[in-house]
Amino acid sequence: MDSESNKNDRFSSLGFIMSAVGSAVGLGNMWKFPYITGQYGGAAFFLLFIVCLLLIGFPVLLAELAVGRGGRGNASSSLTKLSGSKAWGALGFLSVLGAFFIMAFYGVVAGWTLHYAVLSFTGNLFENGDYAGLFNQFIGGWAPIGWQLVVMIVTVLVLIRGVSKGIERFNKLLIPSLVVLLVLLAIQAMSLQGAGEGVSFFLKPDFSKLTGESALVALGQAFFSLSLGMGIMVTYGAYVQKSQSIGSATFAVGLGNVLYALLAGLIIFPTIFVFGIEPTQGPGLVFVALPAAFSAMPFGALFGGLFFVLLSFAAITSAVSILEVPVAYATETFKWKRNSAVLIIGALCFLIGIPLSLSLGGGADWMTINGKPVFDWVDFICSNIILPVSSLVITIFAGYVWKGAAEESGLSAGWFKLWLFMVRFIAPILVLLVLLYYAGVIQV
Ligand code: PFF
Repeated sequence: MDSESNKNDRFSSLGFIMSAVGSAVGLGNMWKFPYITGQYGGAAFFLLFIVCLLLIGFPVLLAELAVGRGGRGNASSSLTKLSGSKAWGALGFLSVLGAFFIMAFYGVVAGWTLHYAVLSFTGNLFENGDYAGLFNQFIGGWAPIGWQLVVMIVTVLVLIRGVSKGIERFNKLLIPSLVVLLVLLAIQAMSLQGAGEGVSFFLKPDFSKLTGESALVALGQAFFSLSLGMGIMVTYGAYVQKSQSIGSATFAVGLGNVLYALLAGLIIFPTIFVFGIEPTQGPGLVFVALPAAFSAMPFGALFGGLFFVLLSFAAITSAVSILEVPVAYATETFKWKRNSAVLIIGALCFLIGIPLSLSLGGGADWMTINGKPVFDWVDFICSNIILPVSSLVITIFAGYVWKGAAEESGLSAGWFKLWLFMVRFIAPILVLLVLLYYAGVIQV
């Protein structure tokens, strides 16, 4: 498919909702969300996360979709087209760059989930009982690179087929399977003896645990979780048909994402509490605490395997959307054929992922900067710096610069006023606070 035919390749309405939910629901919901919820106070944090999603996430999601469909271009050119200024396009390019690097890091973690699915089904996961040791040994070695390659090959094969035949079809197949698995695992987790303690940790807020820091982390997570600030929703927005309501789509995608986070929490917290594991251990939570819990439950290999399959499906539908951002940019800007763009950019992200992955095991000296593996640096810079800066760009653009948002969004006058207020005044201020906090300028 060449770049010209790509221009008329659009999502169907349902296909778009499924693809956008597929993008939003990912490692953010099932790997990052549980461990930060564990670290920042459980239910109170979850509540804040929901508030951030509703007040800031939804309006910014709508802004990104409207800019994409209005500009009918990639995450950079849409801004140039709508403003007539290349400077805005250059600011939009930052998100393309962010998506490119996040893909490298995301593909590595997505690979871990595939490996854990296989380990669990075969029962090998439960052999020696030292889950932390197993995890640390695995992520620092060469094996994750093979799994990362598998993730990249699947992502490339989907993207090569284009928007409606590739991205849409893939999501229409995977999202229903994801829902079935999620509900099945949630029922199973909630029916464990003693599941109540985990449920109340997750759903009964203790507001004394809230700090300024947890509020900012919740906001950052709301953005990450809705796939904002990485040009993803701008790119997908360009493939949405004129007849589709962007307001309803925003609501459907946002709600899908909230429900997913809720169910993910209802699987993870009861499971680890029942087996007496603390939820505060950080990024290893899903890969260390959960296997320990699965090993102790009847049919643990099956449920563990299904859990990691769920995680890898969620990760790959998101990976597809992340890689599409630089692919759309390259087909339009460099006039590359879609096939070549997908292959070249997929290969580059894979290559960059190699040192990121190896840095977790020490690797060469240059793979560690200031005592932190480059893997952590890329995550930090993309998630905590580029993501808020790009979100700031899009809110200011949609709220102050571009005058066509009212028409493009199709919102009624009342909803439009509310939306405009949020993207003009509330979202930029809060996003700026997140940025200043992570940049070390303010402390909370
Ligand atoms: N929203 C997805 C997730 O939560 O995993 C994918 C994603 C989008 C990750 C944007 C990171 C990101 F910056």
